Amino acid sequence: DESVVVAIDGPAGSGKSSVSKGVAARLGYGYLDTGAVYRALAWSMVEAGRDTDDAASALEAFESLDVHISLEPHDFAITVGGTDVAAAIREPRVTAAVSGVARVAGVREGLNGLFRSLVAQSARPGVVVEGRDITTVVAPDAPVRILLTADPEVRAARRSAELEGQDAATVADAIRRRDASDSAVVDFQTAADGVTVVDSTHLDFEQTVSAVLEVVDQKM
Ligand code: C5P
Repeated sequence: DESVVVAIDGPAGSGKSSVSKGVAARLGYGYLDTGAVYRALAWSMVEAGRDTDDAASALEAFESLDVHISLEPHDFAITVGGTDVAAAIREPRVTAAVSGVARVAGVREGLNGLFRSLVAQSARPGVVVEGRDITTVVAPDAPVRILLTADPEVRAARRSAELEGQDAATVADAIRRRDASDSAVVDFQTAADGVTVVDSTHLDFEQTVSAVLEVVDQKM
């Protein structure tokens, strides 16, 4: 039997990753962080000293990318060429480079193929897939499609709480720039037809997980 997809899109700092993981754990589903794979590609280019704004170079890097990602909500792991990159892909130098890589159409098509095959190979009854274009491009036919949003100030505050040691204004600025750059490629700020908006501005983590699970209940 095929795994069903719960598709969740949203901007940086919306709580997407932690909430998606929480929802997957509660449902006994797999969890796929598509942003982590974009980050793994950006990391491999930064490590190799390649220009992440060069489309041809990004495509080449994608074609030789040996990435493995676990779909376990409790045991997230991602490797490139056998190296554990789970921490390295969150470094500011990778975060700053990832939008450039994500702009390349051929890279997006290639990664989307990878995401679909990961879902197809999953032994679980379902997979929560999280990113920017899951509800619209990767899995537009998913039975559950959610846009997770939060006000920009709240997103910046959450992100700077995660990234200890970086000041709030710098983090807010980095989020603003990355959202602007990403929006030029995929629209993740407005809900497409049939996509349910969950606004987490005034919700804590548990409340947001519950709100998403309610949508899942309604749709399935
Ligand atoms: O979700 P996260 O913030 O880790 O994603 C990192 C980057 O990967 C985003 O800023 C965006 O450039 C890219 N991305 C994307 N499409 C997705 C997931 C992530 O373009 N589905």
